[in-house]
Amino acid sequence: MPSIAVIGAQWGDEGKGKITDYEAERADMVVRYQGGSNAGHTIKVGDEVFALHILPSGIVRKGVVNVIGNGVIVDLISLDREIAEVEARGRSVEGLRISDRANIILNWHRLLDGAEERFRGGRTVGTTGKGIGPCYSDKIARSGIRMGDLLDPALLAERLDTVMPMKLKVMEVLNVRLAQTRDELYSELLAYGKRYGRYITDTSVLVNEALDEGKNVLFEGAQGTMLDIDHGTYPYVTSSNCIAGAICTGAGVGPKRLDEIMGVLKAYTTRVGAGPFPTELRDEVGERFLNVGGEFGTTTGRPRRCGWLDLLVVEHAARLNGLTQFAVTKLDVMNDLRRIKVAVAYEIDGRTVKRFPANPKMLERAVPVYEELDGWAGWRPEETMEIVRGGYDALPREMRAYLEYIERCSKVPVRIVSIGKGREETVRR
Ligand code: GDP
Ligand code: IMO
Ligand code: MG
Repeated sequence: MPSIAVIGAQWGDEGKGKITDYEAERADMVVRYQGGSNAGHTIKVGDEVFALHILPSGIVRKGVVNVIGNGVIVDLISLDREIAEVEARGRSVEGLRISDRANIILNWHRLLDGAEERFRGGRTVGTTGKGIGPCYSDKIARSGIRMGDLLDPALLAERLDTVMPMKLKVMEVLNVRLAQTRDELYSELLAYGKRYGRYITDTSVLVNEALDEGKNVLFEGAQGTMLDIDHGTYPYVTSSNCIAGAICTGAGVGPKRLDEIMGVLKAYTTRVGAGPFPTELRDEVGERFLNVGGEFGTTTGRPRRCGWLDLLVVEHAARLNGLTQFAVTKLDVMNDLRRIKVAVAYEIDGRTVKRFPANPKMLERAVPVYEELDGWAGWRPEETMEIVRGGYDALPREMRAYLEYIERCSKVPVRIVSIGKGREETVRR
């Protein structure tokens, strides 16, 4: 702090929600800056579990201002549902602020997401179906509707009448039907404007003022580096930039505003959806990560594909984000493994490759070169808090060796070690 970014270092689901919530103890403001309700961030506080998709994870803590920045695409249905859920559980959304420049996910985006996947035949991306790709496409094509438009009936009418005929034509060609007339949609959006008007503002001003006042601001990433539209495993990626650089455009802050950039790194690797995954395991270790780690998508419930840690991915993430520290999560899931493997290179067509390649076909042929480390004896769940109280040195020796190996290879220090789902099951080093 004062400003810290929390970024996924792999293919998403690294535990960003848990780490954001943990760090938010010291935060005045938590800012989402990209992605939409394709994200699923889980937070466990005592016996309560929150699964957030669009609300920033600071919503669980009292007194935090939660910002949905201009780079986020807002799913109003998700937003309604989530606000009702957190309010029903005694949390207040009074501190919520939504950028007037954030684009909105409309029904045609969801319909077109499905249609595009069907047209991809056997080569689907495996999207979350939330309309993410079509909505970001429309934003870039200047055919989006923004949160601020909901507050100006004349502007909203003009935007709808400019955009909607084109979308109807595209839907006709792709054989999908919108079950809503122009007037129904117009009224619905105006009603949303009335409901959310008091939250909609220029959030760049808000965030920069907070930084000027020396407040602690946390930027919460969604998805992960390997799902980044430019630097991920294209085309098997999401439709936004997920790396730290996106904070500048997605929250409206200058590049010098970031003090710490924390990569959240799962101790092994998972990915949900299609696309290359060189260290994927289709054996009993992979099954174990799936079952012990509870690796089922927070947004879609799909089982996540599981595999060993990949240092080419780690290097990619450290470099692209300029990581200054790691939070390593889910080490408890690896308890009692006799040996642990880590990919240090790939063999591709007889060549040894040490940087993560762009070509998805090449990645499919990549055979990981592994180094092996000793595993550690686990502990019973009731012993977790004892280990936490003992701090870093109380962690099993082989676990510390694993973490220090990751540090040596990546040149990024590990500052947080997570050994359970709960907020308190965390060791700060
Ligand atoms: P996010 O999208 O990066 O926020 O991650 P998700 O919430 O989608 O998935 C991470 C899952 O791992 C959630 O179910 C978390 O509760 C859980 N989790 C996070 N950290 C740990 C940990 O250290 N140990 C265990 N066992 N579970 C964890
Ligand atoms: P969090 O924030 C894991 C994946 C989808 C699919 C691809 C494109 O919880 O880490 P999209 O719907 O975005 O067009 O789908 O990206 N994906 C995620 N995978 N965690 C996420 O978010 C994801 N958001 C999108 O599974 O492969
Ligand atoms: Mg998730």
